[in-house]
Amino acid sequence: MTPPLIALHGPGSTLLIECPAGAPPLWRYWGPRLADDFAAGPALVDTRPTPSFSLDQTVPFSVFPTFGMGWFGQSALLAHRQGADFSQAFTQCEADWLEQGRSVRFTLQDDIAKLAAAITITLDGDVLTFATSLTNLGNSPLDLQWLAAAALPLPDNAAAVQSFSGRHNYEFIAQTEPLGRAIWRKENRRGLTSHDAFPGALVEAGGTVYGAQLAWSGNHAQTIEWLDDGRYQWQLGEWLAPGEISLVPGETLACPPVLATCSDQGAAQVAQNFHAAIRRRMDWPGGAMAPRPVHLNTWEGFYFKHDLPALFELADVAAEVGIERFVLDDGWFHRRDDDTRALGDWWADSDKYPHGLAPLAQHIVSKGMQFGLWVEPEMVNPDSDLYRAHPDWALQLAGRPLLTARNQLVLDLSRPEVTDYLFTCIAALLEELPIAYLKWDHNRDLAPAAGRDCRAAYHRQVIGAYALFDRFRAAFPKVEIEACAGGGGRIDAGIIARTHRFWTSDCIDAVMRARMQPGFLQFMPPEVMGAHIGTAPAHSTGRSQSLDFRAAIAVQGHLGAEFNLLELAADERARLRNWILFYQQWRHLLHSQVWTGEAGDSMIWHAAGSSAEWVLLVYRMEPMSYRHMPPVRLPFVDHAALYDIQPIGPAAHEPGGTFDGSWLAKAGLPVPPMKAESAVIYHGKRA
Ligand code: DGJ
Repeated sequence: MTPPLIALHGPGSTLLIECPAGAPPLWRYWGPRLADDFAAGPALVDTRPTPSFSLDQTVPFSVFPTFGMGWFGQSALLAHRQGADFSQAFTQCEADWLEQGRSVRFTLQDDIAKLAAAITITLDGDVLTFATSLTNLGNSPLDLQWLAAAALPLPDNAAAVQSFSGRHNYEFIAQTEPLGRAIWRKENRRGLTSHDAFPGALVEAGGTVYGAQLAWSGNHAQTIEWLDDGRYQWQLGEWLAPGEISLVPGETLACPPVLATCSDQGAAQVAQNFHAAIRRRMDWPGGAMAPRPVHLNTWEGFYFKHDLPALFELADVAAEVGIERFVLDDGWFHRRDDDTRALGDWWADSDKYPHGLAPLAQHIVSKGMQFGLWVEPEMVNPDSDLYRAHPDWALQLAGRPLLTARNQLVLDLSRPEVTDYLFTCIAALLEELPIAYLKWDHNRDLAPAAGRDCRAAYHRQVIGAYALFDRFRAAFPKVEIEACAGGGGRIDAGIIARTHRFWTSDCIDAVMRARMQPGFLQFMPPEVMGAHIGTAPAHSTGRSQSLDFRAAIAVQGHLGAEFNLLELAADERARLRNWILFYQQWRHLLHSQVWTGEAGDSMIWHAAGSSAEWVLLVYRMEPMSYRHMPPVRLPFVDHAALYDIQPIGPAAHEPGGTFDGSWLAKAGLPVPPMKAESAVIYHGKRA
């Protein structure tokens, strides 16, 4: 009998799963959309005669491939009970529609190893969300080494993987590597998402681009492995330290979700698909995103030097230039004069703020701006009242030295007394002050990360952090939160379900940002990409760019300014004001669909809006090497439409005109000669 097939059709993609009796469901197809009435042909197992030197029972690639009973690829599960039950075979398998055609749950059971797995696959648009869990049905603990959150099928023409690496001050550096018969593997063991390895990637396969990302803010691993039928499998999941997870009888481990999508319309469509999925995951105060307010962040302008009269004056100037949210960064709390002390002591410093933060906060609000406050709840400095009272609250490993980073230690968030303390201190501030926004920082990797039981505490730490975020969100639902970890150390689809903005990078050098932001935008939408106009020279690189260029790069995301506005000359103040007005006028398009690309001769472009109406920013990064500027091809336009195109923005240039969409897409938009590190901006609208 032909086994039943399960089909999930999105607008541009199809997933097809075959459900044989008594075995896990098999991947049949994942790729560009098939016709509704497609014919899948014979069952997979019937098309696989036994090759020489092979088991007589073929074990094709399933949604949950496991080791030891004829599957020789990477196992979705590596687990044992003191060495026993090291091999698993799930023979009781059921498929249930949770929502016909959209969401299906597979429940699998292994009666010998006494395990149950549940895998739910839900399709929204063209994004599949995988939710996987494992339950120990035995009467002894199960030690877990690896549990894939998803094991995705890639076709046999998968050729290259693009992943994103980096470091503090330089996140999202794209790396493209060919796929072959050796395993491609990328791991992160830093305890938080990390600057070094974004938990997702893109795979190119014969014109179709596949993308996946793990919604998790801790250690992670991804593997792409060639299979002996020519396909590849792509596993993503949480990287577990030795002995980190042991499931007691009856216990269930839920994996973080995986978001996966594919498109034969290129990486730009994969980005659109992810943006839609991330937007669905977000939880905005009031149920919907308000226009993203322009920030002023005090960090690079003031660092720890909180001079109250200057901050009052800053608020006045900020309001004048159009700032909408004033974020008081690090340096405001008890004895926090530098980064050597005070983390954990979450009350206002009485020297800098003799009457607390209320006078400044109220002044900011009276000027029509929101007040935001920086916190770093998960950390403690050894030189703090908190640490002196509770030295055992820091993650540590008995007999090993405490390893500081930026002079700080990490609090053990699996302990309720720790999270209660943090909640109480910060809730008091939220109750007392008109705080609309928390910038929630996390400025170090985790090492050593053990709890009181001396076992690895990475997983628990993420769960504890999520619970703390959720507690604040529940108690203060109107407060937005920014996820920051020394810039982009905690950017992922897990934390964004509880936050509203990322601080993309501590590097606000516009040339560097021009390289990083496209990587960010591959996975996350523009409205959550914190992008500030910094000072010149940039503090992180020592390199200078004009205010216009810095602003033209920053308006790609959620705009802010981060320098001492009091030092601006009058003409620069006016220029900043104009850029803020520009952003306010166009943010409804800037925070919509996004396309990015490279034009010839070291030019790049960024477009946002819809194919009917868009804003286009064209940047020249290096001096011209051609005598004449090449036109910029715009693949995102509607080829059949006519467009009225006008130069816009504070640096507006020569007049526009009417252009045919197919001309713009294939021949390109002419642009004027440009100096290095400059931008031109256009508004395009269907005529
Ligand atoms: C790291 C962040 O990325 C910065 O923006 C700033 O908030 C500092 N921490 C403050 O210590």
